[in-house]
Amino acid sequence: TQADFGVVGMAVMGRNLALNVESRGYTVAIFNRSRSKTDDVMAKHSDKKLIPSFTIEDFVKSIAKPRRIMLMVKAGAGTDAVINELIPLLDKGDILIDGGNTFFKDTIARNARLADSGINFIGTGVSGGELGALKGPSLMPGGQKEAYELVRPIFEQIAAKATQDGKPCVTFCGENGAGHYVKMVHNGIEYGDEELIDETYNIMRNVLGLSVDEMADIFKEWNKGELDSYLIEITADILTRKDDLGSDKPIVDMILDRGNNKGTGRWSSGDALEVQVPQSVITEAVYARYISMMKDERVAASKVLNGPAKKVELPEDKKELVEKIRQALYFAKIMSYAQGFEQLRFAAKQYNWDFDYGKLAQIWRAGCIIRAGFLQNITDAYDKKPDLTNLLMDDYFKDIANKYQEAVRDVVALAVKAGVPVPALSAAVIYFDSYRSEVLPANLLQAQRDYFGAHTYQRVDKPFDQAFHYPWYAEG
Ligand code: 6PG
Repeated sequence: TQADFGVVGMAVMGRNLALNVESRGYTVAIFNRSRSKTDDVMAKHSDKKLIPSFTIEDFVKSIAKPRRIMLMVKAGAGTDAVINELIPLLDKGDILIDGGNTFFKDTIARNARLADSGINFIGTGVSGGELGALKGPSLMPGGQKEAYELVRPIFEQIAAKATQDGKPCVTFCGENGAGHYVKMVHNGIEYGDEELIDETYNIMRNVLGLSVDEMADIFKEWNKGELDSYLIEITADILTRKDDLGSDKPIVDMILDRGNNKGTGRWSSGDALEVQVPQSVITEAVYARYISMMKDERVAASKVLNGPAKKVELPEDKKELVEKIRQALYFAKIMSYAQGFEQLRFAAKQYNWDFDYGKLAQIWRAGCIIRAGFLQNITDAYDKKPDLTNLLMDDYFKDIANKYQEAVRDVVALAVKAGVPVPALSAAVIYFDSYRSEVLPANLLQAQRDYFGAHTYQRVDKPFDQAFHYPWYAEG
């Protein structure tokens, strides 16, 4: 028998995804550049409907046509190397699926290049880490719609199912690089969520002076309410864990404060600049990682640069303050998602995609790293109004933002006074204030630009398409 599906790359993500597909009743062909990984999979799963191959030719031959082959290899040069080896062996109508964290512009280019030879190319976001790949990831495919239809039954079976309605966490995102774009924004949002949580932890720890145990309980509690999400849940769990190398300290206290990254957050911020939409919360999260990496510089600076001389005054009962911090976190999370969805809207225009925003929120409800109860509220918002401009214009989000804005101001002010950095939380409140400003000082900016460069401006009392120039240098 021939395989229904093929997977290239037997590192943990590829292996787990192959096992996931197999578990739904399919026969899966597997291949890895080095033989040992494939041998290892077969040694552990000899009872499964897997067809191992040790040359790429045998691998391709082992799959039924039109072939559905998923690449789970390191994004970048690795992906191109595999594609180049596969192309001469494939037939028109075959479907290559790239499940790596690939930059969407690479996917657009590969889709175009392969389309010339009649081979379909789907770039898909796969979120949920190792366990997600095995049990049910969130999938964000983009490419040829007709080709996706042939992959769809499998994707819908392997994807996570939302607890609310059992719907699979997968939807066709759009042409060419749309799926990888959506995954990129997902990852940006992931960075934002992580940073915001980390900032609240920092305030509770270094301003309120709470213990790691106390914070574990607080996050656990938060996870029962509006903030209910995977990242809050694992944060609570992390804070309960002790050092595995013998000290009796919490493991967080043994982990060096240098935040690494694999680039997807940077891509997300970079593209927000390109499509000209503010995405400050996520971008501050990216910067926060960068400055954290400068550990040596920070250690040196900490010895010569001063924080506030006066200690901030704290109320006797910290409960109320902890509640304010919770509200600040939820408020900021909403700003971050509002920005993320705005970015998708701007990108849709720029790259000619037609995103179904409600569906995108829907497929993030389970499986992925940013899964959270409140994605249902986003889904509901777009169900009510598919052409919603900004999440903040939806009643649910508007009401929360209006209600919690006082709390976030207090928390950010407190942190600033205490000298504890809150880049993402403050970016959130600043975005809120900018977005709700009927008038911004860009009138003065326009005057400056017109003054030195005759760049012209528009007037409040004339149609926007008219340009004016002031006689700054006229005599008299
Ligand atoms: C996911 C994640 C995943 C990503 C890691 C690492 O959705 O499962 O986004 O794809 O690789 O989270 O990202 P950083 O190393 O950049 O933090």
